Amino acid sequence: MTKKATLEIDGKKYDLPIVEGTEKEIAVDISSLRSDTGGVVTLDRGYKNTGSCESSITFLDGEKGILRYRGYSIEELAEKANFLEVCYLLIFGELPTKTQLDKFHKDIKAQSHVDEDVKRILDGFPKSAHPMGVLSSLTAALVAFNPSSVNVESEEDMYKAIVKILGKFPVLTAWTYRKRMGLPLDYGGDSLGYVENFIKMMFKSPSGDYTSNPTVVDALDKLLILHADHEQNCSTSTVRMVGSSHAGLFISISSGIAALWGPLHGGANQAVIEMLEAIKADGGDTKKFMAKAKDKNDPFRLMGFGHRVYKNFDPRAKIIKKAADSVLENMGIEDDVLDIAKALEKEALEDSYFVDRKLYPNVDFYSGIIYRALGIPVEMFTPMFALGRLPGWVAQWREMRLRKEPIGRPRQIYVGETKRDYIPLEDR
Ligand code: CMC
Repeated sequence: MTKKATLEIDGKKYDLPIVEGTEKEIAVDISSLRSDTGGVVTLDRGYKNTGSCESSITFLDGEKGILRYRGYSIEELAEKANFLEVCYLLIFGELPTKTQLDKFHKDIKAQSHVDEDVKRILDGFPKSAHPMGVLSSLTAALVAFNPSSVNVESEEDMYKAIVKILGKFPVLTAWTYRKRMGLPLDYGGDSLGYVENFIKMMFKSPSGDYTSNPTVVDALDKLLILHADHEQNCSTSTVRMVGSSHAGLFISISSGIAALWGPLHGGANQAVIEMLEAIKADGGDTKKFMAKAKDKNDPFRLMGFGHRVYKNFDPRAKIIKKAADSVLENMGIEDDVLDIAKALEKEALEDSYFVDRKLYPNVDFYSGIIYRALGIPVEMFTPMFALGRLPGWVAQWREMRLRKEPIGRPRQIYVGETKRDYIPLEDR
């Protein structure tokens, strides 16, 4: 028997179908609620209880701390896969064979050049501009240089757009950084892996050679995998929403970058390091900052703590915490802020304010410490998150278009003035 929910409004009952996912998640399908009831809608501020789509890309269980891409656990992927394989997996649904992966990489490399005129656009930004604003703008500008729209009915067209954005985005990210540092813009090298090439584009000195450091490549690969997708978060929902009007892939991604920038989302990784530095500069009194975080009259929040979905632990944070220890050890770096971070975590996990509200360290709590050890400046932390999230945005955009989802257009409950008459200016 198919399951259903019954809703009663003013004594009248309405049957609503139940949709069950492959992991036994349950949703009440309210698609016909408004037409059946003659106007009733649901109200769900911040979409805390609303499933916006059906998706086969990422599964997460916030209570159990589970995260899987296309069925594969994040722990296994972070340990065994590389970022490019994960990109392919997220976008196309299966792990690639060696031949598929080589072709994918070759096709991305062939599309990694960026029109020289983009450099002039970049030149127009002040050096002090935040890299996320620059990156979002440059990604939007790509549309001007690639104006033909993607025919989503054509596998080939879709594939071309995907390899283009995967090829050009790391270049734009590295150029955003180099412009800020006053360094000449350049490309990496065709013989390098996807992540290593990005590192070379970022750090190659204008005069010297580039030497690969496997610890740096491995650490960044892992961080990018951990950020690669997270189902319907704020930026991904933005990408899907913008794309649902049939806007193109690049402009949808540009909107996702803007959404990611905020400190409650991807911008938290920058905010965490700034917070840890502030605690250090203030003498390292973690208790004082814990008290501020709990004080409802103080806007301060413990950045890198809490998550809309994870109410047990964020599995990504566990992996990153371990990685932070080993990266710092391998690179022979001692960083006081790692000790401050660990002390804060310990105190929070023993504090009823955080325990009762199920607030645990999230992916951003320790990631900045690794980025810093890799030589990435703090303003570039959120662009690094964007680089990692790119395949997720692409996969979700592709899925949304292939499923022919309708344009996203929520309803509202109007709480403004009821009808009133216009008062002429001289009578007001
Ligand atoms: N520090 C202090 N109190 C907090 C924090 C925090 N970091 N996070 C939540 N709370 C409190 C909040 O004040 C509220 O308390 P009360 O019930 O007494 O009013 C309660 O916990 C529930 O918080 P909420 O804001 O209703 O929860 P939410 O699901 O709307 O917000 C969040 C989730 C991630 C925006 C929030 O936890 C937060 O602002 N965290 C800090 C920013 C951060 O680290 N963001 C990165 C998220 S992970 C990366 C990503 O995917 O973007």
